[in-house]
Amino acid sequence: MRHVITEGEEVVSEILVGPGLIDGSPLLPERDGRSQVAILTQPAVTGLGEVVAERLAAEGYGTVSMTLPDGEAAKRMGVIEDVYRRLGTAGVARGDTIVGIGGGALTDAAGFVAATYMRGVEAVFIPTTLLGAVDAAIGGKSAVNVDGKNLAGVFRHPTRVVVDLDLLAELPESLLAEGGAEALKSGYIGDPSLVALYETHGLGAPLAEVVDRAVTVKAEVVSSDFTERGRRAILNYGHTIGHAVEVAAGMSHGDAVAVGMVAAAALSEMVTGFDGATEQRDLIASLGLPVEAPTVSRARVEELMALDKKRDDGGLRFVVLEAVGRPAVVHADPTSVRAALAAVGIEEQKP
Ligand SMILES: NC(=O)c1ccc[n+]([C@@H]2O[C@H](COP(=O)([O-])OP(=O)(O)OC[C@H]3O[C@@H](n4cnc5c(N)ncnc54)[C@H](O)[C@@H]3O)[C@@H](O)[C@H]2O)c1
Ligand SMILES: [Zn+2]
Repeated sequence: MRHVITEGEEVVSEILVGPGLIDGSPLLPERDGRSQVAILTQPAVTGLGEVVAERLAAEGYGTVSMTLPDGEAAKRMGVIEDVYRRLGTAGVARGDTIVGIGGGALTDAAGFVAATYMRGVEAVFIPTTLLGAVDAAIGGKSAVNVDGKNLAGVFRHPTRVVVDLDLLAELPESLLAEGGAEALKSGYIGDPSLVALYETHGLGAPLAEVVDRAVTVKAEVVSSDFTERGRRAILNYGHTIGHAVEVAAGMSHGDAVAVGMVAAAALSEMVTGFDGATEQRDLIASLGLPVEAPTVSRARVEELMALDKKRDDGGLRFVVLEAVGRPAVVHADPTSVRAALAAVGIEEQKP
C-alpha cells in the first residue's frame, strides 16, 4: 500500500506499508547526488540497523551508523549535538540521507537532526513500533525535549516512510497497546471503523488494516494543513492533558495519550454533549491501557498545560468530540477542565 502526503499537487512524502518491505523493495527514493547514508537507530533495533546498512552498502552507498540512547533520552539537545559532530566527522553532506530506524522517540530525534544538519538533509524513516508507524514517523513534525515536552522542533517531511508489517507483528503487547492508543486517536477523530476494529478484535486487531486506516487519516489531515494553522490540531485529541500527564507521571507517550483521551472524552461530554465517553473509557481499559493517573498532582498538570504549544490568546485549546469521527477545537473553561481531570483521578491534593 502506498500513501502520500501532498502540498497542492506535489507529493512531498510517501508512506509504504506492507509485509517484507525491508528485504524486498528499494528503501530510498531514487535521487541523484546521494553518496552517503547515516543510519540512526536505538538499542532495541541495532540488528535491523545492521541489516539496512549492509543493504545500502551493497547498493554502493557509504554508510555511517549510530545508536542513540533509548526512548526519550534520544531527544536531548546534548545527544543531538553529538550526532551533528559525528555526521560532520564522517563527511555527511547536503545531498546525503539520514535513515532513522526505531520508535517515535528515535524518528523524532533523527527528523530533528535531518531538518537542521547543514540546514536540512533528506530523511527516510523505518518505524519499528506501532506508535511510530501510525503516527510519529508520519507528518513531518519532529521535536526534541527542553523542559516541557517537545519544546524545540521543526516541520519537515521525510521523503519516505517504510512501514514493514512483519516487524510490527513481532511487537510485545505493551507496544501494541501504546500504538493502539494513537491508532484509536485517529479513529476517534476521523474513522469510526478503526474504533470498531479495536472493539471487535482488541489488541488482535489486524495490523495491516489498523495501519492503513490510521495512516489514511493522518496523511489526509496533514495534507490539508501541514504547519498546524488550523485543522491539523485535531491530531492532538487527548494530547493537551496527555502530554502533561506524560511528563508529570513519567508514563510512556501511548499510555499518557490513553489517559488524555479518557479526559478529553469526559470534557467532550460537558462541552458538546458527546455521548460516547463511557464506551471510550471501557474500550481503552479493555486494551490494557491506563484510564487514570491518580498519583499525579493537579497543580503540576495545570502548570505543564500552561507550557503547551496549543495555547493561544484565548487560552488553552482542547480537541473534543461531537461524535466519533467528528472532532472540534474549543477553548474550554477551567471548571470543565478540572472536572475532566477529576474523571481520570487527577484532583486537588487534600492536605
Ligand atoms: N512527531 C510526531 O508527530 C509524534 C507523534 C506521536 C508521538 N511522537 C513521539 O514518539 C515518541 C513515542 O513513540 P514510541 O513509543 O514509539 O517511542 P520509543 O522510540 O521510545 O519506543 C518505545 C520503546 O520501544 C522500543 N522498541 C522500538 N522498536 C522495537 C521493536 N521493534 N521491538 C521491541 N522494542 C522496540 C524502544 O527501544 C523503546 O524502548 C514520543 O517521544 C512522542 O513524543 C511524535
Ligand atoms: Zn501522540
